[in-house]
Amino acid sequence: MSGSYTFTMIKPDAVQAGNIGGILNMINEGGFRIVAMKLTKLTKRQAEVFYEIHQERPFYGELVEYMTSGPIVAAILEKDNAVEAYRELIGATDPTKAAEGTIRKKFATSIAANAVHGSDSDDNAKIESDFFFPRLERFTAEGESCY
Ligand code: CMP
Repeated sequence: MSGSYTFTMIKPDAVQAGNIGGILNMINEGGFRIVAMKLTKLTKRQAEVFYEIHQERPFYGELVEYMTSGPIVAAILEKDNAVEAYRELIGATDPTKAAEGTIRKKFATSIAANAVHGSDSDDNAKIESDFFFPRLERFTAEGESCY
């Protein structure tokens, strides 16, 4: 798969608060196409591996516990310059610093419970997308699977 893709999760706080629809609406309004999507719940091991890059950070244990506390929505999104465009749409990691009109400004409650994840590079978008989705579960704009 080549082109402009990013990976996102709607995190447990936002799923629990009933904000899946509101967030997906902002994603659609932002001009992103949904390539793949699922509602799932991470095991401790899966969250530890997904966030392995943060394992030396002091908040790693809290992050893993939080991300396994309830279901999440995982998705691959397509748009030109997707990683940067999506990070702009979601806003700063710390919702108190997130700009008006961003997903985190509207839906995040704290730096840990910050409503959504967005990949920080094209390489990580690929790694994170591959973690959740086989080609069979990815769809072209024409509705063909095996993207
Ligand atoms: P995300 O962009 O998904 O990737 C790493 C996550 O770690 C981040 O969102 C936050 O949810 C969490 N995080 C980052 N900084 C802190 C912090 N200082 N305390 C708790 N959680 C944090």
